[in-house]
Amino acid sequence: MPTLIRPSSRPRNPCFSSGPCAKRPGWSSAVLDGALVGRSHRSRPGKARLKDVIDRSANLLGLPTDYRLAIVPASDTGALELALWSLLGVRGIDALAWESFGWGWVSDIKGQLGLEDVRVIEADYGELPDLGRVDPERDIVFTWNGTTSGVRVPDSEWIADNRAGLTICDATSAVFATHLPWHKLDVVTYSWQKVMGGEAAHGVIILGPRAVERLENHNPPWPVPKIFRLTKDGKLIEAIFEGTTINTPSMLCVEDALDGLGWAERIGGLDALVARSEANLASIADWAERTSWVDFLARNPATRSSTSVCLRIVDPWFDELSTDAQSEVPSRIEALLDAEGVAYDINGYRDAPPGLRIWAGATVETNDLVTLFPWLDWAYTIAKHELEAVS
Ligand SMILES: Cc1ncc(COP(=O)(O)O)c(C=O)c1O
Repeated sequence: MPTLIRPSSRPRNPCFSSGPCAKRPGWSSAVLDGALVGRSHRSRPGKARLKDVIDRSANLLGLPTDYRLAIVPASDTGALELALWSLLGVRGIDALAWESFGWGWVSDIKGQLGLEDVRVIEADYGELPDLGRVDPERDIVFTWNGTTSGVRVPDSEWIADNRAGLTICDATSAVFATHLPWHKLDVVTYSWQKVMGGEAAHGVIILGPRAVERLENHNPPWPVPKIFRLTKDGKLIEAIFEGTTINTPSMLCVEDALDGLGWAERIGGLDALVARSEANLASIADWAERTSWVDFLARNPATRSSTSVCLRIVDPWFDELSTDAQSEVPSRIEALLDAEGVAYDINGYRDAPPGLRIWAGATVETNDLVTLFPWLDWAYTIAKHELEAVS
């Protein structure tokens, strides 16, 4: 066994999960003390809180005034499914996929909605598909940041300003971590559980004017469940965008979302949130640069995610292992660091190539990452030694 120096300090917050993500620095359950529990969400104070989330989110994100934001059921999945079920079927679709979630949307578009004019523009884990193939005459469904591969689109140049189709963007791991180009995006969805470190359960949908126009003029040929319905008699239900939710939200989650927004406002708004993620990515890149056994899964540095950072193991010893044995390496690293209380939930996604995934969104402190790095080296050395011993 090589000599191993056990790091002496531990991250203050060992939460590096890619969702639900770390709570904001300084969070405690006391922030929920004033939650409007036991009261109707349709009461005056209930609606006021929901409207507060809507207004402050739109403000923080710098939404154009003609964009609308609503709180909808079922986290990001609910928000994105709502968009697919309500909007698709008018034009052909270019569905982009380069990791698990993107492929999931493709399977719903084709398998559940049964749409046939669908071009799947895809790439394997670590790569981005050829964005130049996207046709502005068609609807485009894509994920801004692929959480399970750590690959994000580097910009929005590939989306035409004068497109005829709609862009429907699952941005759950990108919102609040990047400056999104709203004029290029007709529908954006996310969940509070990601960059803001909030709770899941509720999703957010943002609609640009072209998406609203489609909603008001398109009657999908399939049944649309009540929890996906944003229109009545061909008109947008404006009240949903003012805090009258489709069904009952958790006012505890709402209170928590307000706490997250308050924190973001206090630290300097969107610029500060983006800067925190980018600083975290830079610190991981710096460590990976000087660490021989690890590299980014994202092949092109311009596509590296600043939130869901996915790492592959590049040690020649590792390459020689069977896939099962390779999977064992990050599993052991995760278990070792979990047992030490140093890092939780850092194994890569189950469908991704074996590796590590470390959340680097705004609620994660750079110092905690810097403290984590020597522990990763320590755990890797132990995992490798253990596996060498049994092979
Ligand atoms: C890119 C992406 N899309 C969708 C989801 C599903 O989100 P939720 O579980 O909040 O519905 C996730 C969750 O990690 C995700 O990362």
